[in-house]
Amino acid sequence: MTTILGTRYPLIQGALAQISLPPLVAAVSNAGGLGVLTTTNMTVAELAAAIAAVRAATDQPFGVNLMLQQPNMAEIVPYLIAHPVPVVTTSAGTPKAFCQAIQAVGTKVVAVIPSVKVAVKMAALGVDALVAEGMESGGHIGTETTFSLVQQVAAAVALPVFAAGGIADAAGVAAAQALGASGVQVGTAFLVASETPIAAAYKDAVIAATDTDTVVTGRALHDAVRSLKNPLTAAYLEAEAAGADADSLQAMTTGSLTRAIAGDVDHGTLMAGQIAGKLTRVEPVAAIVARLFPN
Ligand SMILES: Cc1cc2nc3c(=O)[nH]c(=O)nc-3n(C[C@H](O)[C@H](O)[C@H](O)COP(=O)(O)O)c2cc1C
Repeated sequence: MTTILGTRYPLIQGALAQISLPPLVAAVSNAGGLGVLTTTNMTVAELAAAIAAVRAATDQPFGVNLMLQQPNMAEIVPYLIAHPVPVVTTSAGTPKAFCQAIQAVGTKVVAVIPSVKVAVKMAALGVDALVAEGMESGGHIGTETTFSLVQQVAAAVALPVFAAGGIADAAGVAAAQALGASGVQVGTAFLVASETPIAAAYKDAVIAATDTDTVVTGRALHDAVRSLKNPLTAAYLEAEAAGADADSLQAMTTGSLTRAIAGDVDHGTLMAGQIAGKLTRVEPVAAIVARLFPN
């Protein structure tokens, strides 16, 4: 399937907050997947510059991610309606308020969902495709596993479903397709791409991780995040178990992704998924895509 998204492969590079910037996005789109820009912490002017940089580096389709809990959505959504991009992916909320307006300017809307219930709601809203994201994933997660979620979502809706969570190579792609997915969304494997703008120490930590080296924090705040175990996650879980209040837990992680990106592997939140254990080296995006879709 040369996908509904207009890409050579049914592959979405999952948005990586503060990380999936033009060099990574353009490299994925040039390699035949859908590169997806993060908008986390961006102003409209910064987003416009990032989109221009992607367009300068590729003539292939790309996407822009809207993390709907972000405070900048009120400015960014109208900008994307006035200046359409090929694809918008949405997460952490419903695109109900703007879905039709974005589709009316020719943009495909792909909603990231954590359950059959939300998948059915998004299908009723008329989105173009879904990403069913399992809790193996890095970053903000739901509660269901990819294996169980994807097959139930694929059975419940008549939309293309991209499986996310725990996929890093052709074995994962084949498994996702067997479960009824049309394609895959991949995040953690792209963290260790040469083009990904994070400190070498973050990439090295992902590569060194084994299957059991991630942990989930924030369940008590209904904001579960999967990242690599480190002194920060240990301190956080200790505070959580001791009944620390929401404000003090929140304070522990404020700015912690930025610290990870800068290479602070002890005090940063090194978001990564359980598939990190299968990643063995830093390599160009083209090699990662070839590992996913060897032809
Ligand atoms: C460092 C990191 C940051 C992420 N940031 C976002 C984000 O801003 N928006 C989003 O929708 N998903 C985000 N995700 C989830 C990914 O887009 C993707 O769905 C997930 O990584 C897929 O599972 P995998 O990590 O097992 O490949 C993030 C994941 C990671 C690892």
